[in-house]
Amino acid sequence: MKITSAEFIMSNSSVAKCPNEPLPEYAFIGRSNVGKSSLINMLVDRRGLAKTSGKPGKTQLINHFKINNNWFLVDLPGYGYARVSKKDKKTFQKYITEYFQKRKQLVCGFVLVDIRHDPQPIDLEFMEWLGTNQIPFAIIFTKADKLKPNVIEKQANAYLQKLLDSAWEEVPPHFTTSSSNRMGREDLLGFIDKINQDFFSNNS
Ligand code: GTP
Ligand code: MG
Repeated sequence: MKITSAEFIMSNSSVAKCPNEPLPEYAFIGRSNVGKSSLINMLVDRRGLAKTSGKPGKTQLINHFKINNNWFLVDLPGYGYARVSKKDKKTFQKYITEYFQKRKQLVCGFVLVDIRHDPQPIDLEFMEWLGTNQIPFAIIFTKADKLKPNVIEKQANAYLQKLLDSAWEEVPPHFTTSSSNRMGREDLLGFIDKINQDFFSNNS
């Protein structure tokens, strides 16, 4: 898919105030600093469109970016620094869970994880929560440029195997990316394009 336009539409902290156009949207979620905002910029080829920072906690609100005038990418804040216990899901900022539960336009969440790390409890819990709420999502491995090429695939497969070992019956769609060297860009845009086409053929 060719990106012809990408524009910032709005930031807000309430799902009720998000754009009300019936267009498909994709939301980026994951721990602070994992590379959500950087990946949005890489996908649409617009450095600085989504604000990035070396310090965790840069993105604070729900940010809508309209792409090619007919779908949205949504940049979200990272979920907490603290481990979330099973009992206390509130630690995921309230409007993040509200966004995922209520946003009808959401067609797929992208859960970003740093490819260098083993599965972290907070990511596993968030994915489990998405599964329980029947919210479609894909896993996106980020910062693949930080690994030697011959270990990238091995590391991703080891992560996915751990999901299978921890009660997952199948692994969700997954992509390996780098915002530095643009790895994974075409695959991810192709995935989005396919979902967009299904969305528009079902809603026309
Ligand atoms: P919050 O908004 O704080 O939740 O963070 P975020 O997930 O949006 O991360 P952001 O895109 O701001 O990136 C965090 C840091 O990681 C920045 O210093 C980026 O330059 C760096 N970074 C992001 N993606 C990559 C990547 O693919 N490779 C490398 N080497 N660095 C990356
Ligand atoms: Mg960010």
